[in-house]
Amino acid sequence: MNFTEIKQLEETFQLATYAKMNIAVERGQGAWIWTSDGEKYLDLYGGHAVCATGHSHPHVVEAIKNQAEKVLFYSNLIYSEVRANASEKLVSLAPASITKAFFCNSGTEANENAMRMARMATRREKIITFSGSFHGRTADSISASFLGKYRELGKPNVPHHICAEFGDLESVEELADETVAAILLEPIQSMAGVREASPQFFRGLREICNKHGIILIFDEVQTGVGRTGNWFFSGSDLADFVEADIITLAKSLGSGVPVGACLVNEHIAEKIHENDLGTTFGGGMLAMAAVLATLEAIENDKMLENAKAVENHLREQLKEIPNVVALHGRGCLLGIEFAENCKPIHAKLLENKIITGTSSNPNVLRLLPPLCVKIEEIDLLIEMTRKLLPC
Ligand SMILES: Cc1ncc(COP(=O)(O)O)c(C=O)c1O
Repeated sequence: MNFTEIKQLEETFQLATYAKMNIAVERGQGAWIWTSDGEKYLDLYGGHAVCATGHSHPHVVEAIKNQAEKVLFYSNLIYSEVRANASEKLVSLAPASITKAFFCNSGTEANENAMRMARMATRREKIITFSGSFHGRTADSISASFLGKYRELGKPNVPHHICAEFGDLESVEELADETVAAILLEPIQSMAGVREASPQFFRGLREICNKHGIILIFDEVQTGVGRTGNWFFSGSDLADFVEADIITLAKSLGSGVPVGACLVNEHIAEKIHENDLGTTFGGGMLAMAAVLATLEAIENDKMLENAKAVENHLREQLKEIPNVVALHGRGCLLGIEFAENCKPIHAKLLENKIITGTSSNPNVLRLLPPLCVKIEEIDLLIEMTRKLLPC
């Protein structure tokens, strides 16, 4: 089918809930995709922060193929070697205090389960989240999302969600007490425009949580699995080495095979019992093969180091570009802030076959490339941006 035929068929049979780019993907490799019309695009949006290992990484593809031939799925009612290995690998890469994983299917589901575990562990109900937060679209997660119109979309909201100012410890102190179950936050607020907080903010949050017996949850759906150049934001220097009690993951975790996870420390683990949580597809064999291979590919190909090199290179090169006000974010979760609305540059880059993303900050262009993106590929973006922006 050509593009026009594909578009027409999708629009006839799919609900129109997404603003789509006018291309249809046919195949991908590394940081590149090829369209139905045979055109090649540089993908600096990584399939919406999902394709961390690059499109169709050979190690991931082989693992999925091999697993598919053996057994596609069995639920958690039966043990499985690939699930055992994936769990061990994930927990071993996590900060030292993390001891157990719970697998589910998406970011919103991971956050729902994290909040439920915090409520179970504390026997309290309130959750503090932040201005600019986005945690997903199911009932509890959307009620925890104070970015733009999201909470409105989720009406009627789940009660007991309260909002502090991102980066402002005083605003948290005003809300924190012995009635709060959890503080939940994205350590870097991606959709809000790649907003960062200081390492001291995370240290302060940990202290507030320790003082009041509150569970600290990092939503690492975007920052996790190597994206910031660290396996996890939790425990890294970016968080002043503070470790969250629960880390939630999805997006990059399966390189495109849907999978989410909650990683928990022993304090949480010992409070969660049989039948407290569950989901049919969580921990299925195909997803577990994808998780294991994704982690191995990131490790074998030294993608954490690469993500840091990409950030440093871009930081250096963007200094030369007029109209660029700042580069926000870390590793391969980056926001280029322009002096004006970035929609025109986003559109022009697409016309020139470079895929980037926007954010809810109209001036911030988001980059979420595969962690294996090459410096030469980043240079293509820099050259094109230079060409497109008026001097
Ligand atoms: C930080 C964060 N948390 C949660 C989610 C929800 O993940 P999912 O779409 O897999 O439910 C997203 C999705 O964009 C996200 O960016």
